[in-house]
Amino acid sequence: LLAQIEQARLRISKNTAPKKKSQLGQFLTPKSTASFMAGLFSNMDVKDCHLLDPGAGMGSLACAFIDRCITDKVQFGTFKITAFELDNDIQDELANSLSIYKDLLPFTHEIFGQDFIEETINQIQFGQIDYYSHAIINPPYKKIGSDSRYRQLLRQAGIETVNLYSAFVALALCVLREKGQLVAIIPRSFCNGPYYRPFRDIILANTSIKHIHLFESRNAAFKDDGVLQENIIILLERGSEQGKVVVSTSTDDSFSDLEVQGYPFDQIVFPDDAEHFIHVPTPGNDRIDKRSKQFCHSLEDIGVNVSTGPVVDFRLKEHLRDLPEPGTVPLLYPGHFCNQKVEWPKTDLKKPNAIQRNDETEKWLFPTGYYCVVRRFSSKEERRRIVASLVQPNDIAQAEAIGFENHLNILHNNKQGLPESLALGLVIYLNSTVVDESFRRFSGHTQVNAADLKLIKYPGRTELMALGKSAGSVPLDQKAIDDLVEGINAV
Ligand SMILES: C[S@@+](CC[C@H](N)C(=O)[O-])C[C@H]1O[C@@H](n2cnc3c(N)ncnc32)[C@H](O)[C@@H]1O
Repeated sequence: LLAQIEQARLRISKNTAPKKKSQLGQFLTPKSTASFMAGLFSNMDVKDCHLLDPGAGMGSLACAFIDRCITDKVQFGTFKITAFELDNDIQDELANSLSIYKDLLPFTHEIFGQDFIEETINQIQFGQIDYYSHAIINPPYKKIGSDSRYRQLLRQAGIETVNLYSAFVALALCVLREKGQLVAIIPRSFCNGPYYRPFRDIILANTSIKHIHLFESRNAAFKDDGVLQENIIILLERGSEQGKVVVSTSTDDSFSDLEVQGYPFDQIVFPDDAEHFIHVPTPGNDRIDKRSKQFCHSLEDIGVNVSTGPVVDFRLKEHLRDLPEPGTVPLLYPGHFCNQKVEWPKTDLKKPNAIQRNDETEKWLFPTGYYCVVRRFSSKEERRRIVASLVQPNDIAQAEAIGFENHLNILHNNKQGLPESLALGLVIYLNSTVVDESFRRFSGHTQVNAADLKLIKYPGRTELMALGKSAGSVPLDQKAIDDLVEGINAV
């Protein structure tokens, strides 16, 4: 039967206008993911099951849940499904999907065409909640403005959050029974960053995290819809004590390379982390843990500063030049970096290559020297998040100063260059697989900002300089980089 529902999903997904998809966040869950999610619940022995599917779409998730009950011969005393779906057009499909199962398993269902947030907060306020034993959620994603009606409504339920997806999950947790379980597929962005701190605190204060699944490919979860985002599936249990967390990973929704491992909770949320970041360890983890004892220095410890490129081009337009000319110095954009080095000037870049050096621009410029530069935005194709390159005077015609554009991060020493071997050592270290894996553990973003580079732990300054010396020059291939970093031990 799920195959029948999958066909309907593909048809609806194809026929829904992109505008509507993004307005309503209507990205429907594929069958394999829906079944995986339904399979995560471990409280199938409850007597009375009440399943919540908020933002149910055409019911793929509720149906995967029913399907699991049939396959596993689960029998509840009573079984009720409550679904919320705002979009009138898809409600018939939802009713239809549920009715397909009616002959196979007894259950009752109700479909609310109202807004899940409004209706549920109303129900809470009027004491009308019939609490849920299970919730299965693929919520809409949309920013909630700080003055919006949603924000005010949610506040009444004690929920302070910035996106519809976290609002759906937080609200569903409010209406879950003790020991009730919730499975949701949501963007990984809530795991770190200050905006999602209140949401993380709701999760950590009210539930235990039982399972986290990470899709390692950014377009894995909703590839028919071209959604490019890192998604995780999370299983939470209300009111139970936090124990080990099961972490699984798969490249995509075929789950063909599923890896599963248990972790103590202090490897998921570090006990001394005031921000309560949620880390998702991946298979490279053990290597990271082994290395973390040696790589324990902050940038400050090694005497290195990091800044965002200070040249914001639209503010300095009149001083920019397509090509170098007398009175200008090189201006470097991400497009000037290739194979861990600078290629300058570049005529096919469609960006200026130079900036005038004068009283107005002087404060935005760096003196020529050796720097390690990290792009703030990685491109889709890039395998690694952190892409570091070396800036050396020879590659910019020994110019006296350099402008770094705003899409770059620069590692420097008090606005001066670094010793050559240190700059090169940082480039090698930051391009290593072990750093990439550890970065993915705490960041769900594709952006790498100066603050992220400050959070990374580094080998000592002496080790980094020795690393630079033994590397000699760039470019180096990934294996050579990883071997060099592996060898830091011997220094
Ligand atoms: C990401 S889709 C997921 C649909 C379904 N759960 C699935 O997994 O296939 C989110 C659904 O929520 C619905 N929706 C958006 N905002 C809503 C709201 N405030 N209340 C109820 N449903 C909403 C959308 O129409 C859409 O069908």
